[in-house]
Amino acid sequence: MNQDSGASIAFRGIGKRYGETVALADLDLTIRPGEFVSLLGPSGSGKTTTLNILAGLISADSGSIMIGDTDVTHLSPDRRGIAMVFQNYALYPHMTIAENLAFPLQARGRDLSKQAIAAKVQDVAETLGIGHLLARYPKEISGGQQQRVALGRAMVRDPKVFLLDEPLSNLDARLRLKMRRDLKALHQRLRSTIVYVTHDQSEAMSLSDRIAIYQGGRLQQFGAPADIYRRPVNAFVANFMGEREMNNLAGRVVRAGDGLVFQADGLDFALPTALNDWARFQDRALTLGVRPQGVKIGGRSDALLCEAVLRLVEHAGTEQFFYAQAGSVELSGAAAPDAVLAMGDGVQLSLLSRELYLFDTASGVALVQGGDLAA
Ligand SMILES: Nc1ncnc2c1ncn2[C@@H]1O[C@H](COP(=O)(O)OP(=O)(O)OP(=O)(O)O)[C@@H](O)[C@H]1O
Ligand SMILES: [Mg+2]
Repeated sequence: MNQDSGASIAFRGIGKRYGETVALADLDLTIRPGEFVSLLGPSGSGKTTTLNILAGLISADSGSIMIGDTDVTHLSPDRRGIAMVFQNYALYPHMTIAENLAFPLQARGRDLSKQAIAAKVQDVAETLGIGHLLARYPKEISGGQQQRVALGRAMVRDPKVFLLDEPLSNLDARLRLKMRRDLKALHQRLRSTIVYVTHDQSEAMSLSDRIAIYQGGRLQQFGAPADIYRRPVNAFVANFMGEREMNNLAGRVVRAGDGLVFQADGLDFALPTALNDWARFQDRALTLGVRPQGVKIGGRSDALLCEAVLRLVEHAGTEQFFYAQAGSVELSGAAAPDAVLAMGDGVQLSLLSRELYLFDTASGVALVQGGDLAA
């Protein structure tokens, strides 16, 4: 494919309401040329609305959009240089794969010769590894191959920007993983700008240069995957990222003797001296967050310690996850795959300092991210 690399995209103060519903609130987002950006968030958070406004399929109530140096806010969809692959990428069942791929070139009334169209179709099909399927009909190829044809239909137009709305959602788990790798490799080759909608955080983590996390029509955070995982700006982002739910303990920091204690519901954790500066959070409602990976069996230094009883153990291949009861608090943690764990065992748990998050309970704002012990 000989294609210019992708265009930059800038949303400036984009808002969209449907009656009382704020679908999108004052979105500011700048995407670099050739970047792979995922829009990630729960159902109804405004992801598809963002794509549709970018594509020009619906108009915003306020704000402007730039693609490259062009203000496209009032441009029709076909003049924006973008191609969109929808979640339900229906192929035309009565057309061969070749005809499906050629369709966007003919339908747009472009002035292309039959030979030029055939060459383009061949080129795109080779790129996607479906060159041998051109004479078949959609029902004669697999779901993953159909997915590629749908992508190919977007590629034949040489867009500078691809918009993909949950394109892998109707594939089985294994095929999703393979398509994920293929998509990433394709992006590295084409270097077009890709805006990818998903509600699957692991998909967003593995594919993206940067992730935009939405909730309730508001952009919460925009950053590189590792950064968002390690340094979430608030409790929503922290809980949304990660394969498994974070442990969240409501409580307060209080002074006890010459040390500090995190006083959770019915359970006190003495804070190690490394966390002495948590004194500044005294007397406010806090939520202590720690991912299961930060909760270990056995006493460690530089950790919050508690006694607990194992309630449930799950094998997950490379590690084991356990659920334990500590006072009135349930904690989930992770252990090595060969650790011998039995339900009912009494254990000591360590909540590793470097894995701790602290949120202001009222606002959700992150006060401490991953221990903040770098200093
Ligand atoms: N045409 C419409 N009329 C009324 N409300 C709408 C319309 N389109 C979207 N909304 C509302 O706007 C909000 C954002 O919708 P949007 O489709 O952008 O969510 P999403 O993040 O793509 O969700 P999903 O993951 O379920 O696809 C939702 O509350 C939705 O109900
Ligand atoms: Mg959607």
